[in-house]
Amino acid sequence: MSDTKFTPRVFSGIQPSGGLTLGNYLGAIKRFVSMQDEDFETVYCMVDLHAITVWQDPKALAHNTRELAAGFIASGISPEKSILINQSQVPEHAQLGWIFNCVARMGWMGRMTQFKDKAGKNTENVSLGLFGYPALMAADILVYHATHVPVGEDQKQHLELTRDIAAKFNHDYGVDFFPITEPVIEGAATRVMSLRDGSKKMSKSDPSDASRINMTDDADAIAKKIRKAKTDPDALPSEVEGLEDRPEARNLVNIYAALNEQSVEDVLREVGGQQFGTFKPLLAELAVSKLAPISTEMARLMDDPAEIDRILARGAAQAREITAPILRKTYEIVGMVS
Ligand code: TYM
Repeated sequence: MSDTKFTPRVFSGIQPSGGLTLGNYLGAIKRFVSMQDEDFETVYCMVDLHAITVWQDPKALAHNTRELAAGFIASGISPEKSILINQSQVPEHAQLGWIFNCVARMGWMGRMTQFKDKAGKNTENVSLGLFGYPALMAADILVYHATHVPVGEDQKQHLELTRDIAAKFNHDYGVDFFPITEPVIEGAATRVMSLRDGSKKMSKSDPSDASRINMTDDADAIAKKIRKAKTDPDALPSEVEGLEDRPEARNLVNIYAALNEQSVEDVLREVGGQQFGTFKPLLAELAVSKLAPISTEMARLMDDPAEIDRILARGAAQAREITAPILRKTYEIVGMVS
């Protein structure tokens, strides 16, 4: 249930840590675009402060931030309808992040599976920022009093933590100040899997480029990766139940459904009985027809980085009209003298 005293507002972010994947597009960006036209104010963010929780080459970070902005716009996010920002240009994110470092508990952070995955056995050597990451993420959302956050499945635990932080702050200070945010994890592709291994998430950090479709891949690369995607020898089923225990088949059908804005049931009604030799070219054609125009437009936008910088500066100014008063009020609640 969302809180009615708050303006319906969407916030979401993506790390500019190099390369957008089909997972980011289907799990997040596509939903960002559709929410622009619903009854929400929408704020979308390149989370550069999050990216540096692991080492980023400075030049590459700047390039990737602009390229991600180009990816957002090329996918249909309109700077007229949405506020588009990079996190570091809106200092209230980091300022509220500090307060939340003092609200979140060590035990909560220690349970975050993303931290455990990223740190692996190396917990002594990863940055403190990587451990504290989810508190900054909560600040990203709550510094806008955002009510809805569209994300892929892998961010669910972080959004639960965001709710816990909001509730603890409200409780500790005896206020009803931060909303309890609703995660929006919807659609056929909330968890797009690797094309090489149906048990692993599609990820920009996978060493195998064949495991993912990058938003900058050209038509040939997309078609080749789909043709080579791992599958099983059986024909596609006509019913959803037939995809159980067939992770690779399910993944390709989910991708098809999400790209074509159909339900999985409808897709299977059409393609049930087909062999992968027939289905894969259909999927490749669909993927190229949806993705190639985006990568072409991204390249065009990247020819004029100064225009991207202007859009981000304008976004930051608009964002601060929302975040500055919320931060001011937070400081007042906490007892900071101003
Ligand atoms: P990031 O940059 O890893 O991913 C950005 C978005 O893409 C989704 N996603 C996927 N969805 C489906 N299948 C996949 N294989 C896949 N891979 C990625 C992610 O779920 C996410 O929605 N912590 C966040 C960034 C962040 C944020 C925020 C998000 C920082 N502050 C505030 C929302 C609100 C992250 O690392 O996403």
